[in-house]
Amino acid sequence: MSGLVYTSSASGKAAGETKPAPVIRLERIHKIYRMGDIEVHALRSVSLEISRGEFVAIMGPSGSGKSTMMNIIGCLDRPTKGQYFLEGVDVSTVDKAGLADIRNKHVGFVFQSFNLVPRTSALENVELPLIYAGVGSAERLRRARAALGEVGLSDRERNMPNQLSGGQQQRVALARALVNNPSLILADEPTGALDTRTSVEVMGIFQRLNRERNLTVVVVTHEPDIAQYADRIIQFRDGRIHRDTPVQSRKDAKEVLQQQPVEEDEDDL
Ligand SMILES: Nc1ncnc2c1ncn2[C@@H]1O[C@H](COP(=O)(O)OP(=O)(O)OP(=O)(O)O)[C@@H](O)[C@H]1O
Ligand SMILES: [Mg+2]
Repeated sequence: MSGLVYTSSASGKAAGETKPAPVIRLERIHKIYRMGDIEVHALRSVSLEISRGEFVAIMGPSGSGKSTMMNIIGCLDRPTKGQYFLEGVDVSTVDKAGLADIRNKHVGFVFQSFNLVPRTSALENVELPLIYAGVGSAERLRRARAALGEVGLSDRERNMPNQLSGGQQQRVALARALVNNPSLILADEPTGALDTRTSVEVMGIFQRLNRERNLTVVVVTHEPDIAQYADRIIQFRDGRIHRDTPVQSRKDAKEVLQQQPVEEDEDDL
């Protein structure tokens, strides 16, 4: 990230003082998509702070701006107006190459459709971000194996995506998101294509990583049940934050799975 300017946080405190800078800080972010004559105002002055180790669920109707915000947070896209600080660095003005660099170092992505590379083994899929990061082959193999181990898939490393169940494919995608050791995991409807039990298993992996590694996790979901595994729910409406509330009695995926008989699938959660 050479060439980037570190700015002090809004509180004016230098690093090392009591309150750490938030991992994510959005300041009056706007996003306007222009298609010919038509303008879509997808985000309208969104301001938001997310601290290290928080587990946030993003909810809201279709078209309310959730993915647009995730793309900006994940440095896949830039805001039209407003400032975005990631780890205290103002990334709103960074160019495309700079964004890719920041993304590689700090962010792991998980999508609804898994986005694995077909005809490429689980292990090779997980190695990909390390190839982009220029990591040598021995180290790559070691880290990809460790990441697959973290999601409980050590015995499937040679399988191609089409030789894995949906839940397993999503766990490979999770391993791929983790392999660069990001400080932030962004997941856009990660359980949208999964059945209930598999969804809870995936949320369980997020919860474990959040607790054990203090990883910051932001998950978009349409399912109120899934949002209850987070510790904070942010509701979007019409490109704005409509509500931002803590989860009162957070669900524990491990407990939910233990209470559920293995044979039963969908209905009982
Ligand atoms: N690349 C794009 N070009 C033009 N308009 C876009 C683009 N991406 C999103 N939009 C528009 O911006 C608005 C917000 O879209 P966004 O994808 O953020 O919604 P969302 O909350 O993620 O919805 P969903 O729950 O359906 O995924 C929508 O009106 C959408 O049509
Ligand atoms: Mg979306």
